[in-house]
Amino acid sequence: MRILVVGNGAREDALVWRLAQSASCEAIFCAPGNAGTASRATNWPDVAATDGKAILERVVAEKIDLVVLGPESAIAAGVGDKLRDAGIRVFGPNRSGGRLESSKVFSKRFMERHGVPTARAVIVHSKSTAMAALDEWIGEGVVVKADGLAAGKGVVVCDTVEEARAVLNDWYANNRIPGGGSDVLLEERLRGREVSVFALADGRAMVPLAAACDYKRAGDGDTGPNTGGMGAYSPPFDFPSDMYDQVRERILAPVLRGLLAESETYIGVLYCGLMWTDDGPYVIEFNVRFGDPETQVLMPRLNGDVAALLYSCADGAMDVSTATLSPNACVGVVLATNEYPRANTALKHLNPDVSLPEGSQAFWGGSTLEDGGVSTGGGRVLTVTALGETIADARASAYDAVRTLAAKIGTTQLTYRTDIAALK
Ligand code: AMP
Ligand code: GLY
Repeated sequence: MRILVVGNGAREDALVWRLAQSASCEAIFCAPGNAGTASRATNWPDVAATDGKAILERVVAEKIDLVVLGPESAIAAGVGDKLRDAGIRVFGPNRSGGRLESSKVFSKRFMERHGVPTARAVIVHSKSTAMAALDEWIGEGVVVKADGLAAGKGVVVCDTVEEARAVLNDWYANNRIPGGGSDVLLEERLRGREVSVFALADGRAMVPLAAACDYKRAGDGDTGPNTGGMGAYSPPFDFPSDMYDQVRERILAPVLRGLLAESETYIGVLYCGLMWTDDGPYVIEFNVRFGDPETQVLMPRLNGDVAALLYSCADGAMDVSTATLSPNACVGVVLATNEYPRANTALKHLNPDVSLPEGSQAFWGGSTLEDGGVSTGGGRVLTVTALGETIADARASAYDAVRTLAAKIGTTQLTYRTDIAALK
């Protein structure tokens, strides 16, 4: 089959890398693609990930059989709706399904309607209602969340009600609620360990595929500002052995019932960001796409015909026998520009040769190939991953690979966390 992956990050590079190795993949394309997908696929650099019209035209012209939507922005822009209306098979939900991620208010109400375990929350629309809710706040800690998409900047975890008041004063007084809306959620703070479970959906069923843990803070020891993710590992370590059964029963079953009851045909991946509490899993957030950098550690663990697996979901008849998850561990470390996430530093003339020994892999973030070198606007430039029998083995190989690449990439402007997957 002929496959298009939409997006330009390291997640999409990892998807292209894995899909291209599938027996059923004849040709693979990426819109717009990056410096990594340039060597694994045919890039469509002039086609933006959110431009449904341009994507559809090219998909028809190139006789594409399967489109895989990478970023949330493409889903929120209705690229899935536009392609599906034209009869194209798409792995990724419609815009309406995408609200599980694009609106935290929608998502919270959906979970409440359908009995999905999640933190108690009050939804407020103005500063006065927010302050009144805090006057009566019960419990320790408050999580303040802006409704809309805010690139990781819309959530503040507060230890006290006073801290939450200060955040709300700032947001409402200066009319700068992240994401630009006016709705805010005040949430009970959950305690436990975070884990992300990725479930596949074909519109009729939802099946857990794999799980991973990621690192959101910029600095070692979980210090510094929030980022898109500085590293990840899979499988998660030291969670209950019936983790997937619990997620299936407590989370996926009510979500699926809810989607069906609301006539939402959800196709693609549902990323369940969970807090594993003493009382089992609670949903912190849903994302409607694969994670970045989680995808970079999941793809190396998948064997078999992953293209056939995603096609079967897009076709409404998931066939989980087409691919298997290896018991091996995978660790991924993100190399980002020094000022990330405070600022982005553009880099040019990076060495495009990021080949690594068998079992290790480097995936490019947003970038282009120019004059034989790689140019990037900065931010998360590369994800370096390695497989191993244990997390510790994978971690050692991943950091070996990071040092190898850091030495030959041609810049001193890249930094990385040194404690990814350093399990206590
Ligand atoms: P989100 O963007 O909703 O994933 O939130 C970003 C981060 O804030 C999460 O990864 C958690 O670490 C933290 N967080 C969000 N909601 C809660 C909550 N209810 N209790 C504790 N931590 C939370
Ligand atoms: N790594 C977090 C995300 O993809 O949203």
